[in-house]
Amino acid sequence: MAVRQILKMGDERLLRKAQAITAFNTPELLSGIADMKETMLAANGAGLAAPQIGWDVQLVIFGTGQIIPRYPDAEPIPPTVLINPSITVLGDELQHDWEGCLSVPGLRAVVPRAMKIRYTGFDEKGNAIDRVADGFHAKVVQHECDHLIGILYPMRVTDFSKFGYNSVLFPNLAPESDD
Ligand code: NI
Repeated sequence: MAVRQILKMGDERLLRKAQAITAFNTPELLSGIADMKETMLAANGAGLAAPQIGWDVQLVIFGTGQIIPRYPDAEPIPPTVLINPSITVLGDELQHDWEGCLSVPGLRAVVPRAMKIRYTGFDEKGNAIDRVADGFHAKVVQHECDHLIGILYPMRVTDFSKFGYNSVLFPNLAPESDD
């Protein structure tokens, strides 16, 4: 395993539509996922998408299984590897919450997201995943899956008065707390 470099906004590789994965449980796939897990852990992230390390595949990881200190009211998200995902929005309720991104270090913005979604896909062995999620869990999945279609959260911002530097907006948070 190895901690990989995380690409930053402006890198064209973050703007691609990622390729579907066709072979599961291969050594290449498993070692790439291991690198992503290590990279996310080292960066203190809540999620990471393969394009963020320059890997052009439809794969995201998210969840720590623990309460995240800056979201103390959020349910823990099960650690998940999600491949070739598909999201269906359930209902028309929106949530407006702060987001950060490891590819946009130091910044944070309020982003509108669907409150409730169903997401489907596969794990690294090819087992089907089919879940309904809401709130923080739904937000994280939407953020990570956006990376697979070349969308970074600033492209979703509608109120730029709620876009700024972490250190100014949340001076009590650890500076490395991007997600
Ligand atoms: Ni991100």
